[in-house]
Amino acid sequence: MTGQDVQLRLVQALSAGEWVSGASLAEAMGISREAVSKRVRKLAEWNLDVTSQSGRGYRLTPPLELLNPTAIEQGMASVPAKDCQIKVVTSVDSTNRWLSENGAHRTLCLAEHQTAGRGRRGRQWHSPFAQNLYLSLRMDFSRWPDKLPALGLVVAVALCQRLNAQGIPLQLKWPNDLYLGGRKIGGLLIEQRGEMHGAGTLIVGLGLNVAMRDASKIDQQWTSLAREGYDVSRNALAATLAETLLRECEQLSDAHITMRLSQHSDFDLYRGQDIQIIGSDSIVKGQSRGIDEWGRLRLHTAQGERVFSVGDVSLRTHDHAPD
Ligand code: ATP
Ligand code: BTN
Repeated sequence: MTGQDVQLRLVQALSAGEWVSGASLAEAMGISREAVSKRVRKLAEWNLDVTSQSGRGYRLTPPLELLNPTAIEQGMASVPAKDCQIKVVTSVDSTNRWLSENGAHRTLCLAEHQTAGRGRRGRQWHSPFAQNLYLSLRMDFSRWPDKLPALGLVVAVALCQRLNAQGIPLQLKWPNDLYLGGRKIGGLLIEQRGEMHGAGTLIVGLGLNVAMRDASKIDQQWTSLAREGYDVSRNALAATLAETLLRECEQLSDAHITMRLSQHSDFDLYRGQDIQIIGSDSIVKGQSRGIDEWGRLRLHTAQGERVFSVGDVSLRTHDHAPD
């Protein structure tokens, strides 16, 4: 057993948030009480708060729900288990990166923790241990749909629809951000390999904040389901998200993409609002008019309508300075 395996088993034993004695932890893990104490101290590196008290042992606060592949598989009711592989890892640099070198068609990778979680254009995705969801799906294709650049929007619309139906009013900020209560709660990172119109591999990564309450490292307004008052099971939610990703990527015809893009306005955070589009060397101001049939943002400016492709531009409101 590696040090990391011992730590994970310790967290499992403490996950209910009850007092557990050092002696019983040592016995369950086949290590000394000193080794238990050393490993518990190391849990601080995963941002876990474990209190120790002589005579009582150790207690983790708050309690947490670790990812469980069986529970996730069972929660994905519409996907036969044989149709997808689920890989749960304790810690990885990035689930997207992992799938680019491992796994096969229809493999899902979920991590408790990412050491180098990534967003668009080399930005970082803050990924503390066991608080949020970090998952990626790998899909291989024999032929790319023409509207593939709109895939992020397609998946985002489907996720919004699914969570809104469960009473969580998620919204979208073009092109890849998920918002709740006006703050960023998640995002999608789509990476692809292959020839345009030929065969290829797609990796769809999703991060969604679940229980995170503090994160001084995030340099914009953010939130989590817990912060907005939603108490959800991480495994049940992981199953819902994974199922949605798989279903959307399975039916990636241009007709399906067109249908999903037509639903974008139901969840569009900035429709009709004054915004600015920030490119590498320009800022264009105007009013957001939603998206066109290719998923491009339509901006009404003083010079007429302009459209922007998903790429090297960012949408901001007027009170937000460019990065
Ligand atoms: P864009 O409009 O270009 O997408 P963005 O600032 O949202 O702009 P992304 O690349 O989509 O950029 O996302 C990365 C950014 O998201 C980070 O720079 C940080 O500001 C923020 N961020 C990082 N981790 C989290 C997280 N766990 N929850 C919410 N926001 C995060
Ligand atoms: C964004 O808003 O820029 C997208 C963030 C995407 C984060 C997820 S977490 C799982 C997957 N692995 C990564 O490294 N990134 C995505």
